[in-house]
Amino acid sequence: MKTFIIGIGGVTNGGKTTLAKKLLQSLPNCSLISQDDYFKPEAEVETDERGFKQYDVLEALNMDAMMTSVHSWIRHSKDVEFSEEKIKTESQFENIINFLVIEGFLLYHYMPLNDVFNRRYFLTVSYEECKKRRSTRVYEPPDPPGYFDGHVWPMYLKHKKQMERVVREIVYLDGTKLEDDIFSYVYGDIRTAAQQLTT
Ligand SMILES: Nc1ncnc2c1ncn2[C@@H]1O[C@H](COP(=O)(O)OP(=O)(O)OP(=O)(O)O)[C@@H](O)[C@H]1O
Ligand SMILES: [Mg+2]
Repeated sequence: MKTFIIGIGGVTNGGKTTLAKKLLQSLPNCSLISQDDYFKPEAEVETDERGFKQYDVLEALNMDAMMTSVHSWIRHSKDVEFSEEKIKTESQFENIINFLVIEGFLLYHYMPLNDVFNRRYFLTVSYEECKKRRSTRVYEPPDPPGYFDGHVWPMYLKHKKQMERVVREIVYLDGTKLEDDIFSYVYGDIRTAAQQLTT
């Protein structure tokens, strides 16, 4: 069975999880992997001289475990075979593709992961909007005072710059648009890109 792997990257509070869950509900044969599920335990995450836990870096994540999940999904999906007949007669091309949505804040910096994507999206919001949205959330562990300006935002800018230098074919999305509008655009774009797999 053909596979189509979608990356939903971007800034913290850009709306990655929101968009990924909508895609999960709307695409047939779709699974979701969230990078936030692969943070190392707190005790293994480095602390800088200001006492800030260094969560917004690749080293805070267990990327080997995340890749194991991705590869096991790929293996399993490739094993699912449809008959020649179904492939020939299926009018909805989506029904002969297995979709995987992978969402997270550092998807395109780890090359083994970056290489698996058929389509890469990246949600952005301004500093002000991001700080405002983040201040309404409670993370585990909670952000200490000064964490956004001292760690989260500078790391985001650094990673974005690196990504822009190295990674090609990223579709940037304005995370301040209406949730439904972002979803409709991405859904249509995925359909167009995935259809090319079946022709
Ligand atoms: N298009 C949007 N417009 C306005 N608010 C949004 C939009 N998308 C998401 N939000 C809100 O922004 C907040 C963050 O959304 P979400 O959890 O999807 O972001 P995220 O990028 O996954 O963040 P995190 O860094 O925690 O993983 C939530 O309160 C959500 O309701
Ligand atoms: Mg999220």
